[in-house]
Parts: sequence; structure tokens; C-alpha cells
Amino acid sequence: MKKAKVLVTGGLGYIGSHTVVELLKANYQPIIVDNLSNSKLGMLKQIEAITGVKPDFYNFDLCDEKLVAEFVAGEKDLDSVIHFAAYKAVGESVAEPLKYYRNNFNSLLSVLKALEERQLKLVFSSSCTVYGQPDSLPVNEFEAVKQAESPYGNTKQVAEEILQDIARADKSKKVISLRYFNPVGAHESALIGELPLGIPQNLVPFVTQSAIGIRGPITVFGDDYNTRDGSCIRDYIHVVDLAMAHVAALKFEGKDGANQNFNTFNVGTGKGYTVLELIKAFEKTTGVNLNYKIGARRAGDIEQIWGDVTKAQKELNWEAQLGIDEMMKSAWAWEQYLQNHQID
Ligand code: NAD
Ligand code: WQD
Repeated sequence: MKKAKVLVTGGLGYIGSHTVVELLKANYQPIIVDNLSNSKLGMLKQIEAITGVKPDFYNFDLCDEKLVAEFVAGEKDLDSVIHFAAYKAVGESVAEPLKYYRNNFNSLLSVLKALEERQLKLVFSSSCTVYGQPDSLPVNEFEAVKQAESPYGNTKQVAEEILQDIARADKSKKVISLRYFNPVGAHESALIGELPLGIPQNLVPFVTQSAIGIRGPITVFGDDYNTRDGSCIRDYIHVVDLAMAHVAALKFEGKDGANQNFNTFNVGTGKGYTVLELIKAFEKTTGVNLNYKIGARRAGDIEQIWGDVTKAQKELNWEAQLGIDEMMKSAWAWEQYLQNHQID
């Protein structure tokens, strides 16, 4: 039987590469477009080492409307698109908002324009960042007010509105926006994982780099929050579970009886861990002691957030399977792999 073709934009990045592996396992044919602005070509070989398949790969900038149109014109039988390509560093987006608005909107708009006449499904990478600090927890998809607090977050919030308008105007398009919570961890093979450039801003890559000696002590950003141990709470999700949510989204046919072609889903575990709990979990599962100190709060941090994931469980038939121990163990295995292997 012919395999369903899925265009995966940003498919060599952290979440994209794990999703490509799951798509291959589920018998889809992924076609990757990535301009390597935040990833390495070597990821293609890593994917091949896991799956035995080297997926089709095209290196160009998705902001280039003409190139995207030409590419899509040559791919007549695309079934769906998963749009990962975007810049994602919150702090950088505050310093350079135009860079974020330009890349995140232009890439999305040129993909949408090129696919204007096609009937297909589009899965979009959104983020729990659209919720800001929610009034009640766990946060669900229907009640929370969207209140992104950075230019990056705003690109996700506005992109969802753009996608909703497009779905409303063209019922043949099925759009699914997945609001990821905090993706961490790596593939169990330790052949793919997150490749942070420079000093990691996110907690888990900093933890693993500190543990292996690339970085100094970890600073816990604040222990005076109104949480059980004073440090911030997040809903960490294993990147392989997150990748599988994309496969579930491709299979999603819409809720029975509902004529709705735009859907949003929280993709998390539904459980929150504090920074200090995550540090303890890392130490317990890996047997490595971490060097950490309590520091000042980080500007702009949300005190606590975790997701209500019942909608994804019921409608996507998807649920996170892996817990904090697997997240820490796999993140550590990947850091150790990187110590002996160069990915270019
Ligand atoms: P990533 O940076 O590892 O992957 C993004 C990929 O897109 C990179 O390989 C990059 O080279 C590519 N890219 C960016 N702009 C491009 C362009 N104009 N043309 C072609 N390729 C381009 O990031 P990730 O962590 O895998 O995130 C994937 C998506 O998920 C992003 O949209 C991100 O905003 C979103 N997201 C990420 C997180 C997270 O914590 N990692 C959380 C929520 C949402
Ligand atoms: C997690 C917790 C920090 C580093 C970001 C984006 C969000 C989404 C996910 C894309 C926080 C604490 C961190 C450190 C620490 N991305 N921390 N010491 O801020 O929840 O979310 O990534 O959509 O939009 O904002 O993730 O990993 O940076 O931080 O104490 O050295 O770890 O304060 O409580 P965050 P993070």
C-alpha cells in the first residue's frame, strides 16, 4: 500500500527528528524541509541509524514563498503537513522581536499559501506559553484566556488565530494545534536528542551539561514561589511521547458529530514537577550528584503550570506513557553519547 506523505518542516530539529522516527515506525513517508538554522545535517544519519531509512530532505528557508511554492508544486500527493519550523528562544525573542515575527510568521504563511488549494491536514507546534500564568490549574484548552507574555509566545498565539481563520474559511482543511508543555529527554537509542546551541537556557539541557562538566553549578531560579518547595512547577513531557502525539494527530478525524476543523490539544503529562523535584529525580535515576545553588527568580518566569490533558486522551486517543525517570535517564544517556560523538 502507498504510504501517506507527510511534509515535516523543521524536521531535523529536536521535536521534529523524534517525530520523523515515529512517523517512519508508523509507516508514513516523512519529507523533511529544514534550513539548518537550529539543527545539524548529521541528524539525518542519526535518524537512519535508528530506523534504517534515510528520509527525503530539502534544505531551504521556508520564509521564501517562491521556493516553498515550487517545492509544494512538485509534491502533488502530500497528505499532511507538520509545521515545526520556528525560532523558539523566549529571551532572544524579547531582545529581537522582529527576527521572531519575521521567521515564525513568514514560514507559516508561505506554507499556508503554497497549500491554499489543497485539501489536507496541518498539525501546528503551539505551546503552553500561550496561557501565560493561568488563573486555574490544571489549565484546559477551553476556559483559559490566552495571554502570551513574550514575542515568541505571541507568534504562537497569533499563529493559532491565523490557522483558525483559515480553517473557518476552508472546511476542507483540518488543522490541529498541539500545545506542548515542556518537552525533555531523548530517544531511547540515545542517537537523537536536543542539541542546544551555546549555553542552554532550558533546565534539562543545563542539568545534563552541568552533570557532565561542560557547565558549572545549576542555578535554581527562585525558591520563594508559592509552591510546595518554593521552586517553579512545570509539566515536563518526554519528547518521544510528544512525537507520538503527532502521529495521533494525523489519525484524528474530528470529534464524532462535531463539524469542527480547527482543534487545539494540550500535550503534557498532566503532572507538575518543581525544579527541585526534577533535580532530585535526575540524581536518583542516574546516580549522579548535581551541584546546584538557589538563585534569584528569572524575569518573566511563570510560577506554575501543568496541563489538563483529558481532551487529548479522549479525542486523540493519546496519553503520555513515560515518566520523569525515563525523561531524566534518556536525557543523560544522550548527553553521554554527545561526549563521544560529533554531530555535524
Ligand atoms: P528546534 O529549533 O530544535 O527545531 C526547529 C527546526 O526548524 C530547526 O531544525 C530549524 O533549523 C528549523 N527552522 C527554523 N526556521 C526555519 C525556516 N525559516 N525554514 C526552514 N527551517 C527552519 O525546535 P524544537 O524544540 O524542535 O521545536 C519545534 C517546534 O515546537 C517549534 O515551533 C517550537 O516553537 C515548538 N515548541 C517547542 C517547545 C520546546 O520547548 N522545545 C515547546 C513548545 C513548542
Ligand atoms: C523550566 C523551569 C525555570 C533553567 C520554556 C519556554 C516555553 C516553552 C518551554 C516553547 C523554570 C527553571 C531553568 C535554569 C532553573 N517553549 N530553571 N534554572 O521557561 O518553562 O519554558 O520552554 O514553547 O515557551 O518559555 O522552560 O526549561 O527554561 O525552565 O531553575 O538554569 O526551570 O525557572 O521554572 P520554561 P525552562
